[in-house]
Amino acid sequence: MDRPIDNQIPFDVQDAGRDPYALFDRWFTAAMQFDPHNAAVAALATVSSENRPSLRYILLKKQGVEGFVFYTNYESRKGVELAGNPAAALTFWWPAFERQVRVEGDVHPVSEAESDAYFASRPRESQISAWASPQSRSIVEPVTLDVYQEQFAGQQIVRPAYWGGLVLVPSRFEFWQGRASRLHDRVQFSCSESGWQIDRLAP
Ligand SMILES: Cc1cc2nc3c(=O)[nH]c(=O)nc-3n(C[C@H](O)[C@H](O)[C@H](O)COP(=O)(O)O)c2cc1C
Repeated sequence: MDRPIDNQIPFDVQDAGRDPYALFDRWFTAAMQFDPHNAAVAALATVSSENRPSLRYILLKKQGVEGFVFYTNYESRKGVELAGNPAAALTFWWPAFERQVRVEGDVHPVSEAESDAYFASRPRESQISAWASPQSRSIVEPVTLDVYQEQFAGQQIVRPAYWGGLVLVPSRFEFWQGRASRLHDRVQFSCSESGWQIDRLAP
């Protein structure tokens, strides 16, 4: 695959600007234009009540100064871990650009109204699967949609209370630009009382 940018162009603390959300938008927009099917996929790390990490992919649905929003089952493993310890991390990887972005912060549910609006915008099958799947629980038979398709026939499907949005509010960002020389560029934004503190990190 051709690289859409010249990865020899240095990416410095100066090029990063002062606003990590604006830089994220710039990189995310480029990644979405190049690979709309995969650019919004991020690995989400959470921590259990025994301080054990766990990691899985999620799909970013919205991002901005309010944070990074994704949707899931609140009773899933990730949902339960986040309810017990809101600290989490997201990592994006955009191979065509040789770019990685790490975002860390605390997670909390989005408003009920926001979850309702997003649920209402989903295809009917996806709405039914939210009802049909007790995500992360042990099951005897594969999940099927039939029972719920019958139950909801001819009706509007309401959002189950255990399914909705979560938003990660960043306290740290790291932008990583790969280099052929292996002397990759890394720029960190950490939240401080006086605003974002910006540092270059060794590769
Ligand atoms: C590319 C990709 C995107 C995914 N997006 C989501 C998502 O947005 N929300 C979600 O609950 N699960 C998503 N999943 C499934 C999760 O990776 C995971 O299997 C599921 O959420 C259960 O995780 P848990 O048991 O750690 O809670 C996605 C999986 C892949 C491979």
